[in-house]
Amino acid sequence: MTQARFRGAIAGWPVGHSLSPVVNAWWRRKHGVAGSYEHMPCEGGEAEFRQLVERLKAEEFTGINVTIPHKENAFKVADTVSDRAKALGVANTLVFYDGKVHADNTDEEGFYASVMAVRPERKSRALVLGAGGAAPAVLMALHRAGFENIDISNRTRQKAEGLKSRFECLSEIVDWSKFADNLSAYDLVVNTTSLGMHGQPPLEVDLSAAPDHMIVADIIYTPLETPLLAQARARGLKTFNGLAMLANQAVPGFEHWTGIRPAVTPDLMEHLEDRLLGRIPPVAIALTGSIGMGKSTVAAMFARLGAHTWDADDAVHRLYAEGGAAVEPVAELFPDVIQSGAVSREKLSAHLLANPGDFPALEAVVHPLVAADRAVSFDKAQRAGALSCVMDIPLLFEKHLEKPFQAVVVVTADEEVRRKRVLVRPGMTEEKYRSIVARQMPEGEKIARADYVIRTDLSLEETAAEVSDAYRQILEKYAY
Ligand code: ATR
Repeated sequence: MTQARFRGAIAGWPVGHSLSPVVNAWWRRKHGVAGSYEHMPCEGGEAEFRQLVERLKAEEFTGINVTIPHKENAFKVADTVSDRAKALGVANTLVFYDGKVHADNTDEEGFYASVMAVRPERKSRALVLGAGGAAPAVLMALHRAGFENIDISNRTRQKAEGLKSRFECLSEIVDWSKFADNLSAYDLVVNTTSLGMHGQPPLEVDLSAAPDHMIVADIIYTPLETPLLAQARARGLKTFNGLAMLANQAVPGFEHWTGIRPAVTPDLMEHLEDRLLGRIPPVAIALTGSIGMGKSTVAAMFARLGAHTWDADDAVHRLYAEGGAAVEPVAELFPDVIQSGAVSREKLSAHLLANPGDFPALEAVVHPLVAADRAVSFDKAQRAGALSCVMDIPLLFEKHLEKPFQAVVVVTADEEVRRKRVLVRPGMTEEKYRSIVARQMPEGEKIARADYVIRTDLSLEETAAEVSDAYRQILEKYAY
């Protein structure tokens, strides 16, 4: 290691689901590099991105990866730029040095490595589908890989024409409605459009006329197998998805920052697939704090960083609503609190205020239902490949629920701030407030039991910075 301590990030928006932190952590562990790499959400445009870069420079970050929508901004903020970034006009890797910024673009290298890994036998003609942000790096890589003719097809023909005027290596522009008619001419077809991605329609194409040696590639990795790749595989064609591109584009960044050139090994690829396929449980994070501490605000800050979130109060709302699983058992206990087929929270709370002895009976019914709802949500987070799941549980300590969590985050604020916040809520009275506080563990005790404490009586920026700090530490400790 040539420098004190590595500090990196992936900047973009949204950025929470990026696998870059996983790749970076894998290599750091492998090569014994101390430091951290975090999610750096950056909403907004060029001005916000410039501001972020200035802050990261001041905080002595080593460098960052940059993703949508800031690749152009990353290019613009740089003091020096690599030739390959210049050729593309956008950057995805920044290196901070002597108060300056160097920009590189490693997407071409990422796709180049992916293509070379499948060892194409014939390189006479390739077809690039799509002319969006990802297409230029792909066609440059195909050119470097030795494909003699590279054709392009895009729904909006004009965009393909724009690329043809910029990149000499492009041969023909094929009409979007016709690209499937001449598949037998191609040795490789690559999809760079968003078609086939989770939540998008598939790319409609019939591969039955494709030659047996044709390679079909997709730069998408969510899902790992798009309908296009599934069809190609069923047809017996060689395929590859976008995961190798993702891992390989990270190589030069790690090398810039640490001086070590890491390898994309089969075990790394398997690890990334395991994550995407939901085989790795997310880090279980409990978020708690007394009434009025700002748990929901803090939960939203975790969500912005990519955490899957679940909220016990929301779960109770769902359970009490018409058709909710708690309505029938609660109706059996306290028929007077049911209204229009739902548990009326107002009536229930009035009932409990008058009959505090009824709490245990209610909890015996509701707690197992809430726990089941939480388990379903955790499972969903895992299947989505989430790195973490933050569960907002107001009475975590009081109900002894902290055991299954790897990290417990307590949200706190000055007592006076908190009282004021709560008393302005509709329907809140001093009496009700006192009754709620009486059921909660004293603040000092909660803080003593916390793994991480977040203060909410600061500015929103300061609170967000505390959340970000805690999140980075939690993921470094448990997620990678
Ligand atoms: P960028 O990557 O620059 O953000 P994009 O708008 O996300 O670009 O689009 C990526 C590619 O997917 C483009 O080639 C786009 O085609 P257009 O240039 O015609 O917009 C393509 N694409 C997205 N949805 C599509 C669809 N339903 N049918 C065909 N192509 C589509």
